[in-house]
Amino acid sequence: MSEKTKDIANLYDLCLMHTYTPAVALLEGHGSKVTGMDNMQYIDLTAGIATLACGHCHPKVTEAIVNQAKLLPHCSNLYYNPNMALLGQRLSKLSGGYKAFFANSGAEANENMVKIARLWGKDKGGRYEVITFNKGFHGRTLAMCAATAQTKIQDGFDPLPTGFAYADYNDLDSVKAALSDRTVAIMLEPVQGEGGVIPADPAFLQGVADLCKEHDLLLLFDEIQTGMGRTGTLFAWEDTPVKPDLFTLAKALGGGLPLSAVLARPDIADLVKPGMLGTTFGGNPCACAAALAVLDVIEEEKLLDHVKTAGAQLREGLEALAAVHPQILDVRGKGLLLGMVVEGAAKDVVNACRELGALCCTAGEHVVRFIPPLNIPEKDIAEALDMISDALDQLWGDAE
Ligand SMILES: Cc1ncc(COP(=O)(O)O)c(C=O)c1O
Repeated sequence: MSEKTKDIANLYDLCLMHTYTPAVALLEGHGSKVTGMDNMQYIDLTAGIATLACGHCHPKVTEAIVNQAKLLPHCSNLYYNPNMALLGQRLSKLSGGYKAFFANSGAEANENMVKIARLWGKDKGGRYEVITFNKGFHGRTLAMCAATAQTKIQDGFDPLPTGFAYADYNDLDSVKAALSDRTVAIMLEPVQGEGGVIPADPAFLQGVADLCKEHDLLLLFDEIQTGMGRTGTLFAWEDTPVKPDLFTLAKALGGGLPLSAVLARPDIADLVKPGMLGTTFGGNPCACAAALAVLDVIEEEKLLDHVKTAGAQLREGLEALAAVHPQILDVRGKGLLLGMVVEGAAKDVVNACRELGALCCTAGEHVVRFIPPLNIPEKDIAEALDMISDALDQLWGDAE
């Protein structure tokens, strides 16, 4: 760690709550490259944890943010906010007529999605319980800790809000077992991200959707990580046999600024009346301007096609490494949301890769996660794969 980085680390120790364990201090980023305070350049296969879809400082996104910041950086919800209207219109068109509520973070969007589901359940015999899945991740507010069926997220925060029941992902029988006369909805990630990059089996999704129909339940998708093109379609549900009644977006939506959204079928959205939901910064004009620019870039630069080819390139490269390193047990995921399951601690792989200039992150104890910008060039992927290969040789011994 360089002296400058140590100074920052000391400030973290002294003045911040010990929430995170950062590795290096970042100063600047362009495209899929970032530079640290130690003057080292890295290829960023984390993209702000799946946030920077267009890479660091995409000129269109930066320009949209700067222009709006010079005009009207914030507009309270007492007044019409033109950017929020335009973004709502755009997402409505792209989702097939769904209506939006804008918030700031993924957890906040999910929490509002659950509130809307409960509102809907009021007229259905007062049903309120939402089935979520083991290894899922939905955020860190108290209700979303309760929705996240992982003890490491919940421990220490009792009593958690009630109203959630848990089932096993990709196991329809366990969903049936979790159903009760309280159930109002089933909520899932189309690919479990933090839980280990586990894609939903299409037959499982169809089974869940059939159960929802049979028992008059809402199907809720948490697309905080999968949304905005990460898996190769703008919304991950577009490449599944089902369509959720409500879904959430965050992370990549705001091009690096905090922005999230709940999108709901119009008849469900219309249950929401003035005063029921709200948040001061939700739909901030700069964040909405960034989101409109992100959508433009995704379309103009044909990023959904690029995700498919870049995802295939990265996956093939990781599979080639798996062929020579028996410590790699699996490569899985979709598009540019890929996980490499390893025998030992994933964080050791992440640290070794970073030392050589490739940033990746973990998804649970044994999964190394790759979530680069959606526009990462072929040559950056090739370069990063060489670094990962060298890092694995160092860690586990030369593959040859
Ligand atoms: C699927 C999913 N849902 C919700 C969240 C929480 O989002 P936020 O950290 O913006 O509250 C995350 C964050 O990683 C996520 O991956």
